[in-house]
Amino acid sequence: MSQIAIYGNFLDFTGLPALGDPADAAVRWRPDHWLLARDGRVVAVQADEPGDDWQKQRHPGRLILPGFVDTHVHSAQIDVLGAWGTALLDWLETHTFPAESRMADAAHAAMISNLFLDGLLASGTTTAMVFPTVHKVSVDALFTAAQARGMRLITGKVLMDRHAPDYLRDDVTGARADCEALIAQWHGRGRLAYAVTPRFAPTSTDAQLAMAGELMARHEGLYMQTHVAENTDEVAWVAQLFPQARSYLDVYRHFGLLGPRAMLAHGIWLDDADRQLLADSGAALSHCPSSNLFLGSGLFDWPAAQAAGTAVSMGCDVGGGTSLSMLRTLADGYKVQAMAGRRITAWALLHAATLGGANALGLAHEIGSFNAGTLADLVIWDLAADPVQQRRQAVARDLHDAIFAWLTLGDERHVVATVVAGELRYQRPATPFTA
Ligand code: GUN
Ligand code: ZN
Repeated sequence: MSQIAIYGNFLDFTGLPALGDPADAAVRWRPDHWLLARDGRVVAVQADEPGDDWQKQRHPGRLILPGFVDTHVHSAQIDVLGAWGTALLDWLETHTFPAESRMADAAHAAMISNLFLDGLLASGTTTAMVFPTVHKVSVDALFTAAQARGMRLITGKVLMDRHAPDYLRDDVTGARADCEALIAQWHGRGRLAYAVTPRFAPTSTDAQLAMAGELMARHEGLYMQTHVAENTDEVAWVAQLFPQARSYLDVYRHFGLLGPRAMLAHGIWLDDADRQLLADSGAALSHCPSSNLFLGSGLFDWPAAQAAGTAVSMGCDVGGGTSLSMLRTLADGYKVQAMAGRRITAWALLHAATLGGANALGLAHEIGSFNAGTLADLVIWDLAADPVQQRRQAVARDLHDAIFAWLTLGDERHVVATVVAGELRYQRPATPFTA
């Protein structure tokens, strides 16, 4: 039996915060507390120091959060981070498809998967829903790497049988066989789960989308992930390709792909009927502000989604997004809403990246908070990484001011350590400032 006790300032959520009012937060702040974890699961968060039968780690003054939940990111796209000059459809052709082709090679896929997951852990992300590539080996490599790290990971073979280069296209028969084999091997194994993964409506034929829907119906507990309504040219293209559909989102409904555990990235160009359809079906959105800014895709209407009752989670969407850091992603999330004339709180942002993400994935009983019984996936953060940031923290007016300034100025340098199911999986190397 392992018993660990971690001391610090704990912050998590008990409900959905209001978007614009820091006072209406459902936030739980427990400074100078001990988190007790037995065999990888949270037993309690308490003010009293536990006895000597607990292995203790003290982090006075440090912020401790549940591990971030990133609901949309592409493993192979670490190779196209910060690629210049294009909007979505051109970016896919110019930068992304060539990089993804390299994942056909098992050794390359293993190398990228390890680098990618270590990058997530070093950024404070302990759960991720990931697009690898069309290649079966890219999925095996990612699941293998996640299993070695004890991470909760949801992924699946990307489906694309049209409107992609020859070297990246599959076909319905081969794709179905690959999916069935991967589901049999990985789905429900430890903390891993399979997601049926049509890239987006334009790159799958009707027959392939129907096959994806059949997989969802046949296997219990599968996830579904795809992209929707990210870019206006993309939306116009979908309208041409699927003239019978009421909207882009309606294509996925038609093929039986919406429901609980369905995750749709972006959702910028949706209407109210779409948002209602998402809420009614139990599907969730992954808001990807870094990507939306970098590719110039548009400004997500977060209040409209929240008003419709649609679950909103967060994705870094590397390589459309420019960093694996969820903290940087959240800072961009604030700026996207600011561009639309709105101000959202640190609580709304942090909730979306923790409990909100867990809820969106149907995993709040396992992750996203410090509730007793959840897995001890947590991240220990410094609030400042240099003297200027220390000064800013020293003059913070209140907790929201301190946390919002940290969120806005912070990045992966602020991660002291990342713990997954009670095991230390990342520890920051000492630097002149942190030593
Ligand atoms: N739509 C279809 N494929 C992609 C992708 O790889 N990245 C983003 N941002 N949007 C997409
Ligand atoms: Zn994406």
